[in-house]
Amino acid sequence: MPSRPPQQAPTSSSHYFSHHLAPFSPSELQKARSISIHFESVELQFLTGQGTFSRAEFDEGSQLLLDTMFKYGEFPDKANFCDLGCGWGPVGTLWAKTHPKHRVFALDVNPRAVQLTQLNFERNTVSNAVAWCADGLSATRDSVFDIVACNPPIRAGNATIDSLFEGAQRCLKPGGELWAVIRTAQGAKSWAKKLSAQFGDCHTMEMRNGFRILRAPKC
Ligand SMILES: C[S@@+](CC[C@H](N)C(=O)[O-])C[C@H]1O[C@@H](n2cnc3c(N)ncnc32)[C@H](O)[C@@H]1O
Repeated sequence: MPSRPPQQAPTSSSHYFSHHLAPFSPSELQKARSISIHFESVELQFLTGQGTFSRAEFDEGSQLLLDTMFKYGEFPDKANFCDLGCGWGPVGTLWAKTHPKHRVFALDVNPRAVQLTQLNFERNTVSNAVAWCADGLSATRDSVFDIVACNPPIRAGNATIDSLFEGAQRCLKPGGELWAVIRTAQGAKSWAKKLSAQFGDCHTMEMRNGFRILRAPKC
């Protein structure tokens, strides 16, 4: 599938969406936080760490995204699932564990996030998933995914989100779907309009606690 670009040197002023954060050293990893998530019928353990998104708990928006996909999604038995901007990997790990016939591809621009996602796959004996470090889907082939799930990095700016969504559309198979969670206060309605223009259609599947779940099927 995609190639894994070289990891980059650390800086002190990086945000969670940075590609400049070096992976954790073994001693730093020993201090990583461990949290447990109960979802559907599974209870999984996760390592999270400094410099990754929502390291104290499973983000409420991502949780709503998964809940909504479970409630309304109709997905093929066998499917390629992309966790776009995986952070420490909660979405991809939970999806892989609850969909053993799916193949999960998790990517993030932040090497620390990718390292934790890989460790979290191993910790939870997930064998149908891979994680890699990349700036969006620019190095990924066209029409390979059935599902792309994304809690976009709003703080990274509109150009980054545009490029993530454009990559999602290109890399989805016809009939595949992008599912995204965005806060209403952070422009969810405008993103829904943009996705509608880009994909030809975009439905708001859920609105709760200030979040909107968007579903854009690729024609
Ligand atoms: C809002 S967080 C969601 C993380 C994770 N999915 C979760 O639910 O906890 C967005 C993620 O996108 C990643 N990201 C930002 N820019 C990116 C890019 N250009 N390519 C890939 N990932 C990116 C960030 O590093 C961050 O982990």
